[in-house]
Amino acid sequence: MSAKFLNHVSVVTGGSTGIGFSIAQALIAQGTKRVYITGRSARTLNKAAVQLGNAAVAVVSDVSSLSDLENLKSEIDKHGDKLDSVFANAGICEKNEMGKTGEAEFDKTFEINVKGVFYTVQTLLPLVKDGASLVLTASICANNGMEGLSLYNASKAAVRSFARTWANDFRDRKIRVNALSPGFTLTSLMENGLNMDKEQIETMKENTARNAPAGYMAEPAEIATAALFLASQDAKYVNGIELTVDGGVSQI
Ligand SMILES: NC(=O)c1ccc[n+]([C@@H]2O[C@H](COP(=O)([O-])OP(=O)(O)OC[C@H]3O[C@@H](n4cnc5c(N)ncnc54)[C@H](OP(=O)(O)O)[C@@H]3O)[C@@H](O)[C@H]2O)c1
Repeated sequence: MSAKFLNHVSVVTGGSTGIGFSIAQALIAQGTKRVYITGRSARTLNKAAVQLGNAAVAVVSDVSSLSDLENLKSEIDKHGDKLDSVFANAGICEKNEMGKTGEAEFDKTFEINVKGVFYTVQTLLPLVKDGASLVLTASICANNGMEGLSLYNASKAAVRSFARTWANDFRDRKIRVNALSPGFTLTSLMENGLNMDKEQIETMKENTARNAPAGYMAEPAEIATAALFLASQDAKYVNGIELTVDGGVSQI
């Protein structure tokens, strides 16, 4: 076991499934002392915490709720912890058809994906150590115009933008802020947000295999490896960037 994260304390929002869960798992495999994982569903979160073991603390917390974020902060305070890294990863991906998009859909995507990332960081900032690392999960969609996803794409462009400004805002505290942009990754986001059935997911896998130079669709663990790189001392001169982890699909 490599121990790059020995005695490390971290928060992973949206840590109950998919990419966030894999980040928590990888942190623990590398010696992390404690990782706070969040999500809205207590059931999913508790299942994840059992799988992750004693180093994981599950906190039911909706990133779009400022009082939930304050509760998360109190929980970390109760343990007497300060944070070495924050993975602002929670997000949703829902299609919106132009001409038929209601205000509630607009608000939902921006409340979770944009406001959620903003207030996660602002709320936890007093607990973040000088020299810590913040990793914001954006998406390759921050830079493309994927059909039917105008709200999602714009929300992720905002996340990418936060990384630039905060890298500047937090320079005196030597807190690094980077965006991580996964490509197509096999997680429950496909069923939950995009309402894809098994057949559609298979088609997407085949399309990704054809279009991405890597030749297959990513597993969440492959995205987590890149997230941990950004949080680690190996990346101590990496700041304000967007690290694209997509098997090359958006580069060709
Ligand atoms: N999978 C992909 O292809 C892909 C590609 C690019 C970027 N991403 C981004 O990667 C991130 C993780 O997604 P994923 O693919 O791992 O999907 P996922 O498996 O659906 O995971 C999403 C996580 O976020 C949590 N979450 C959702 N809304 C939340 C809220 N309001 N407050 C707190 N937690 C919330 C979910 O738990 P609850 O539902 O219980 O709240 C879950 O833990 C997202 O930001 C997504 O946009 C994914």
